[in-house]
Amino acid sequence: MSKVNIYLFLITILTIQSQRTGFCWFLFKTIVVDFDFKKTHHFQNTLGLSIFEKNKSLKKKVLFVCLGNICRSPSAEAVFNGIVAKHGVADQFIVDSAGTSGYHAGEMADARMQQHARKRGYELTSISRKFNPARDFDQFDYIIGMDAENVDNLRLLARGPGDLAKIHLMTDFSETTHSEGVPDPYYGGSRGFELVLDLLEQAGTGLFNQLTKKLK
Ligand code: 4NP
Repeated sequence: MSKVNIYLFLITILTIQSQRTGFCWFLFKTIVVDFDFKKTHHFQNTLGLSIFEKNKSLKKKVLFVCLGNICRSPSAEAVFNGIVAKHGVADQFIVDSAGTSGYHAGEMADARMQQHARKRGYELTSISRKFNPARDFDQFDYIIGMDAENVDNLRLLARGPGDLAKIHLMTDFSETTHSEGVPDPYYGGSRGFELVLDLLEQAGTGLFNQLTKKLK
């Protein structure tokens, strides 16, 4: 073989090889890369993110917080659940309650609070739990303290401006009465429990009006 023929032979081999490599890359890209991307994209659009994001944007997540989570916040949860149910929009809300202390974690609501609530048609079914900063700040849009002390304690637990913006005082939502928070009824008599329910019904209605205005 002459030198020229050897060069021609090498160039031909290299050309075929590069075409093969190119073809192999084309096959690889079509089968693996494109398909995989489409598969992932498709999955996200049809099964995963779209439905999740839709629910995420539609549902309002509200957490009521007091000290022990056995009197005011479980009542706020029941009263607010009653309001959303009455308006036929319970499926648009996630409602929960917690306490800044864990003193009564695992307990049902205070028997006196349950009795007063039942007289107005509210069943207090929630079990006391301690507020969990990382999980609750991530999971809820509105974190509503019953009094100024609850709000201060929540603010101390906030990790930044995003968390702080979620914290509110319950009575600030009332459109009918002015009160600096829902007073702790634990060491008082019947009137304290009735006052809790009066304030929660007023503020709960205002909260509902505000949240549904934003939903429309
Ligand atoms: P809550 O009431 O914060 O409305 O659940 C209280 C319940 C228990 C205590 C204080 C307040 N405690 O001191 O045990």
